[in-house]
Amino acid sequence: MFINVRLPDGSTHRLEAMEGWRVMEVIRDWGLPIKAECGGACACATCHVWVADSWIDKLVPPTDEETEMLDGAFSVDEDRSRLSCQLIMTPELDGLEIELAPESLADVAENSPATGTSG
Ligand code: FES
Repeated sequence: MFINVRLPDGSTHRLEAMEGWRVMEVIRDWGLPIKAECGGACACATCHVWVADSWIDKLVPPTDEETEMLDGAFSVDEDRSRLSCQLIMTPELDGLEIELAPESLADVAENSPATGTSG
């Protein structure tokens, strides 16, 4: 299954996703620049995304923790904002369309990523 991710620069990316993965993990593991500073612990809101209208009803409603965290985020759209680390991939979400909120974009220009240096 796949998700479709739009970045703040307007580019769109179709990413393969596995059942049980967090949407944030899919975005991060395919190398797109998402901050996700807390690593998925619902403690930072830097994985904030806007969900396309047609997909909102298919998502599990946010927990109180997620709603509280979003309260402190920027550019929040009450109807469409979610934390992508709290969205778990299921077959029903195949084709999910989301847009990364600008403050969730990692600053790749300043942090040149190290590649292939592990081990
Ligand atoms: S990664 Fe921190 S709240 Fe989602």
